[in-house]
Amino acid sequence: MSYSFKIYSSLLVSLLPLVLFTSPSFARPSMKPTSPLIDEICSKCLDPSLCLKVLRSNHHSAHADLKGLGRISIHIARKYANQTSNLITSLSKGETTFVLKGRYDVCAELYGDAIDELNGAEEILNKEEVLSPFDISTFRIRASAASDGPVTCEDGFEKPPNEPTMLKQANKKLEGLCSIVLAIGASLNSG
Ligand SMILES: *[C@@H]1O[C@H](CO)[C@@H](O)[C@H](O)[C@H]1NC(C)=O
Repeated sequence: MSYSFKIYSSLLVSLLPLVLFTSPSFARPSMKPTSPLIDEICSKCLDPSLCLKVLRSNHHSAHADLKGLGRISIHIARKYANQTSNLITSLSKGETTFVLKGRYDVCAELYGDAIDELNGAEEILNKEEVLSPFDISTFRIRASAASDGPVTCEDGFEKPPNEPTMLKQANKKLEGLCSIVLAIGASLNSG
């Protein structure tokens, strides 16, 4: 009896970690890799939960420094801006209402500019040398200009006719993604 108890209890002990780490109540979705830097940056963003979600979805981000996180967030924002730019182009092509078509074309241009600004911000982070105060202020200006793109696009639809919900959501999301880049810019230090 004592023998079978021993086997049973050692089996239990060896299975315990498995149970702990696979049990659904312990496997919270928020247990993805993160870092104190990610938490700090995301707490300063427009949409902290979007920030945590997108930064955690990149497997380099948990070990990235501030510049690395900057590159990752620019990459994500640019990809999303590019996709949305394609959506806007197809909306414009399919639109017969003069007013809406004009607004889509303005948005397409704004999105193109936002992508250029993000590229410019990325170039600054790719510099070999230490960032100067001028680099940092240029980075902030570019991040802010990129963020203006989706905001100004959205402003174009203040009066009816409305844009499709899909574009409204995309503007909001890109603004949120650019706010990660802005938060990183705010944390950059020279020297
Ligand atoms: C989006 O990305 C594609 C492929 O990299 C590129 O050809 C296109 O010019 C980009 N669109 C904009 C608006 O930058």
